[in-house]
Amino acid sequence: MSRSHYPARCAALRAQPRRWLITGVAGFIGSNLLETLLQLDQEVVGLDNFATGYRHNLEEVRHQVGAQRWQRFTLIEGDICDLESCRHACHGVDYLLHQAALGSVPRSLEEPITTNQSNIDGFLNILLAARDAGVKRMVYAASSSTYGDHPGLPKVEAQIGNPLSPYAVTKLVNELYAEVFARCYGFRTIGLRYFNIFGRRQDPNGAYAAVIPKWFAALISGEPVQINGDGETSRDFCYIDNCVQANLLAATVEEEAASNQVYNVAVGERTSLNQLFALIRDQVAPHYPQAHHTQPHYRDFRPGDVRHSLADISKARELLGYAPGHSLQQGLAEAAQWYLANLQHQRGEGG
Ligand SMILES: NC(=O)c1ccc[n+]([C@@H]2O[C@H](COP(=O)([O-])OP(=O)(O)OC[C@H]3O[C@@H](n4cnc5c(N)ncnc54)[C@H](O)[C@@H]3O)[C@@H](O)[C@H]2O)c1
Repeated sequence: MSRSHYPARCAALRAQPRRWLITGVAGFIGSNLLETLLQLDQEVVGLDNFATGYRHNLEEVRHQVGAQRWQRFTLIEGDICDLESCRHACHGVDYLLHQAALGSVPRSLEEPITTNQSNIDGFLNILLAARDAGVKRMVYAASSSTYGDHPGLPKVEAQIGNPLSPYAVTKLVNELYAEVFARCYGFRTIGLRYFNIFGRRQDPNGAYAAVIPKWFAALISGEPVQINGDGETSRDFCYIDNCVQANLLAATVEEEAASNQVYNVAVGERTSLNQLFALIRDQVAPHYPQAHHTQPHYRDFRPGDVRHSLADISKARELLGYAPGHSLQQGLAEAAQWYLANLQHQRGEGG
């Protein structure tokens, strides 16, 4: 069994702090990256236009890390579609973790142009700014949607199919630009193909919310739970702490062979939506007994969705020393604590 390089890499960072830029810092993944980096005494610049991110995510991080560590954080409110904001943010940065984008397959079907602007134009701006600023490496959020209609399971990085949505096109184009910047300018990048990341601070609200936060919120508030399709659609759900680990390992890996690559970030296990629903209900029911009796409502399959998704994570294990510390069940137990505490809190405020 491979062992994670993560504890040693964290210790090295703590001993020699670096300057990081996180784009999309007010979002779900960005704010979790921020929390870990500040806990490791790093200096962090964050760039966000608050399109889908929240100030309360940053407030929560401030509360978690304390006033002293919070002083090492600088927020730049700006848009990655503006090259000057990107240049300003990249100044003096060692490592860039690029998370800013408009997520969600359905949103991209509704809004292909705005999705393209943030996810492709914005990506190119930050890539160019990072190159010009001499950033050591840019790690960027790629996506499992890049596997598109390729039927193979588990998904291996070298075998992709045709994109099934505008969102998937944008994430594929990111990979192409990163590759070309390596080839033409020698700029170092690593793409992380995230597979359904979940955990604290993932937004349960809005039309484009992801399934896990949406179902926690519905079960806690006693609202109906909808399943798109027959519930046998499956995903490789991956807890946020695994994703944070992958980002830090990717940014700091020294072996040249590991650079200018893309990696799956997942657990390497497949869970159907029906199984997922039962697991989430088990977490909520001890606190909200009405959830015991909740049954999901089945509706049509959603356009653009792939049927099954499962990652082969051996490349990240071998080249990055990645070893996911949380199974789906462990992650759901931690996520449940957060949703129970925070959604209860919101209910209290509302009442
Ligand atoms: N959550 C997942 O399961 C998942 C899966 C695959 C890929 N991804 C990718 O990971 C990244 C982070 O996703 P997330 O789940 O944290 O989403 P999120 O919506 O919570 O975070 C995205 C952040 O980027 C910011 N942003 C968007 N457009 C911007 C712009 N033009 N300029 C500046 N800031 C901008 C938003 O305000 C938000 O704070 C995205 O690139 C997403 O496509 C996420």
